[in-house]
Amino acid sequence: MEKRILIKNIKELVLVEYPGEEKQMVSGTDMNQLSVISNAWLAIEDDQIAGFGTMSDWEGIQDWTNLEVVDAEGKTVLPAFCDSHTHIVYYGNRENEWVSRLNGKSYEEIANEGGGIINSALKLREASEEELFEQAMVRANEIMAQGTGAVEIKSGYGLNLESELKMLRVIRRIKEETPLTVKSTLLAAHAVPPEFKGNKEGYVKHIIEEIIPAVSQEGLADFIDVFCEKGYFDNHDTQRILEAGQQAGLKAKYHVNQFTISGGLEVGVKLNALSVDHLEVLAPDEIDLLKNKDTIATLLPSCSFFLEIPYSPAREMIDAGLPVALATDYNPGSTPSGKIPFVMSLACIKMKMKVNEVYNAACLNGAYAMDLSKELGSIAVGKKANLLVTKEIPSYSFIPYSFGGDHIDEVILNGERIST
Ligand code: NIG
Ligand code: FE
Repeated sequence: MEKRILIKNIKELVLVEYPGEEKQMVSGTDMNQLSVISNAWLAIEDDQIAGFGTMSDWEGIQDWTNLEVVDAEGKTVLPAFCDSHTHIVYYGNRENEWVSRLNGKSYEEIANEGGGIINSALKLREASEEELFEQAMVRANEIMAQGTGAVEIKSGYGLNLESELKMLRVIRRIKEETPLTVKSTLLAAHAVPPEFKGNKEGYVKHIIEEIIPAVSQEGLADFIDVFCEKGYFDNHDTQRILEAGQQAGLKAKYHVNQFTISGGLEVGVKLNALSVDHLEVLAPDEIDLLKNKDTIATLLPSCSFFLEIPYSPAREMIDAGLPVALATDYNPGSTPSGKIPFVMSLACIKMKMKVNEVYNAACLNGAYAMDLSKELGSIAVGKKANLLVTKEIPSYSFIPYSFGGDHIDEVILNGERIST
């Protein structure tokens, strides 16, 4: 027998897509369109959204068997957030590096002194898979409580075959043992590890010839990523690694234009990458490059906030007709926080995005950036019932407005009410 939930008296049901009108993503002026039903009901059957509408056309309940009724009077219902860029599997934190930054050192200086990604890699290599899993699960539970229902998680703190596999197996366990929808990304090209110091080419070969084949043989990743940045991997390395990943069946989504404009964006556009992430710095002709492409720009304003680097020119990008997704970048170095509502506030306040745009960017477009928008990211019949019920709030604008607040009352994932 099916398990059914009826949510009634919903003050606002946000990001609804009517049958036949479902989109894979929204771009440009469409990003400011958000269908909202006031005084709504929503029905769930098993793990799917079965129907929705306004209370005035609700015909009541004929069949009460196996039905749970939730009264959402005064509350808003949203799609659970889709966080398409995180690094939540890591061991130990780097708050000491942050303290050094407060004392005047730059992120780059800290990395050059052996801190940064290498610091995290040395810590992670020492940890057992079990210890790593336990720490990562704390973060997985934390992001769920903050409204994330689907998450992309990257490797990239192993930087050798054994430890990259260890990270990816932990990601697989998070997928198996939590109600989160998880996509996994191989980011072996996050930094050149100490044993390859001065021999970047050797490490690139190791990634292409050893790590990618092993990962693909175990089916451990969905996507391939590279940190395309001065001092890390150049455009040529990026192209070779992304292509090798694509040949192994992994879609490309990668870090580019975080600190410098290298021309590396063009590489991904040519390879039809699923997403290009960061873009804190962006040349005007790079906006043109992204027009009318399947590649989505994923912006990470809480990274800009924490590192005090420029914010991506989201307004210019959307005004030029591009699609934009928002994600947290949760990681120990540049963004030790995984709270999508805060990212939405920053996007409005610092990147001049509009309220409707940030909902589309953190839900439907976030799902697209994980290749999940057919099943997630909006309120649509047949989509997975991944939903948030808020506390009593005056309107959905209140969530990004009331920055840093905690407005989520209940999280429903795969049609299950989960206690967070
Ligand atoms: O997305 N830019 C590269 N990777 C991370 C930061 C990694 C770290 O500092 O540990 C990012 O910001
Ligand atoms: Fe990142």
